[in-house]
Amino acid sequence: MQHYFQDRRILIIVSGSIAAYKTLTLVSLLKKWGAEIKVVLTKHAQEFVTPLSFATLSQNSVINDLFTDPLAHIRLAKWPELILIAPASANIIAKYAQGYAEDIATTILLASTAKVVLAPAMNQVMWAHSAVQENIQKLSARGVDIIGPDIGLQACGDVGLGRMVEAEEIINMLPKYFQQGLLKNKKVLITAGPTQEALDPVRYLTNYSSGKMGYALAASFYYQGAQVILISGPSALKPPQFCKFIAVRSAEEMQAQVLEHVAMVDIMIACAAVGDFRPKKYQLQKIKKDKKNLTLELTKNDDILKKISTHKHRPLLIGFAAETENIIENAKKKLKAKKLDMIIANQVGPNLGFGAEELEGFILTAQQIKPLAKNNKAIVADQIVKEIMLAF
Ligand SMILES: Cc1cc2nc3c(=O)[nH]c(=O)nc-3n(C[C@H](O)[C@H](O)[C@H](O)COP(=O)(O)O)c2cc1C
Repeated sequence: MQHYFQDRRILIIVSGSIAAYKTLTLVSLLKKWGAEIKVVLTKHAQEFVTPLSFATLSQNSVINDLFTDPLAHIRLAKWPELILIAPASANIIAKYAQGYAEDIATTILLASTAKVVLAPAMNQVMWAHSAVQENIQKLSARGVDIIGPDIGLQACGDVGLGRMVEAEEIINMLPKYFQQGLLKNKKVLITAGPTQEALDPVRYLTNYSSGKMGYALAASFYYQGAQVILISGPSALKPPQFCKFIAVRSAEEMQAQVLEHVAMVDIMIACAAVGDFRPKKYQLQKIKKDKKNLTLELTKNDDILKKISTHKHRPLLIGFAAETENIIENAKKKLKAKKLDMIIANQVGPNLGFGAEELEGFILTAQQIKPLAKNNKAIVADQIVKEIMLAF
């Protein structure tokens, strides 16, 4: 993720919410990843966190007063590529929506042409209040992006919608603001994870796929400005907030969702490890262990990619070939048989491929073969997305 933030100028406005402590982590992480950070605290934010903490973490002095340095508000308004209000209290949201300029934070907001993103944080009843909702709609219509809020236990003990999104997740949403947006008007469908083929009410057939590669691709496409639909089999990974996320279990469910969405997209990447077979008959009652041997009869699932390759709305089609041997030869065969535009051939084995953090392999098109050096899946995903942008 580091390369997205290197030398980017982000102004962070912290307002008076109990969630302000999370912004310390946010600043610390962004700073670690090379961003240039300046922080402005509202008067009430200083009841919760200190300028000293933010000055230390951002390695920049913190401005929290309009009148000490007469032109600070104009300098700070012109400086950032992105303004992030986190946490955004109901109060600052209202003032920003109405166009107030009564302190350093609100004056900067009016004086700046930078993109503004805000992460609301407040009690769930406050968030649901029509005044707050109207202000949010007004800001959103003006081009301000809203991240969250999250649902869950609140500092006051309530449970509901209003928590500020966690620092790491806010950061995940930011790189697209610094991209050239080469895929800005493109829609991408990604399948990820394993499928589960039910055998009886308590058992299923599956494989070791974790979903990591597909989720990393979803993030890389999003960072390039694409709209992403992620159709995922069961995975321990958290569904990303930045895309349309569709959870499925079986190969048949995955196929149904792919068919429903494929006509809407420009690119499809089939990264899921779809079960080739499913039990021929689903047993309504749990299979008993009274027999010494049990024979399962399996039936073949449809090949989703093959089906899409002849679909009347066929998008650009990219597949994955996880192989244990002859990976290039096998991938070439798959590329041809399934009529794909590109295939990612990858070696599976101990600490590689399924479930692992890293991936190693080759990118094949009809014209060329390029090696993919062994690397973390997030880095590999960026490389694959770059190749797709170059190749087509
Ligand atoms: C302990 C405490 C926690 C608060 N937490 C929030 C909050 O999470 N969100 C919010 O909108 N207001 C919260 N408030 C109220 C704001 O601090 C108050 O509306 C203040 O005027 C906000 O000022 P500012 O937006 O200029 O920073 C809290 C107040 C107290 C005393």
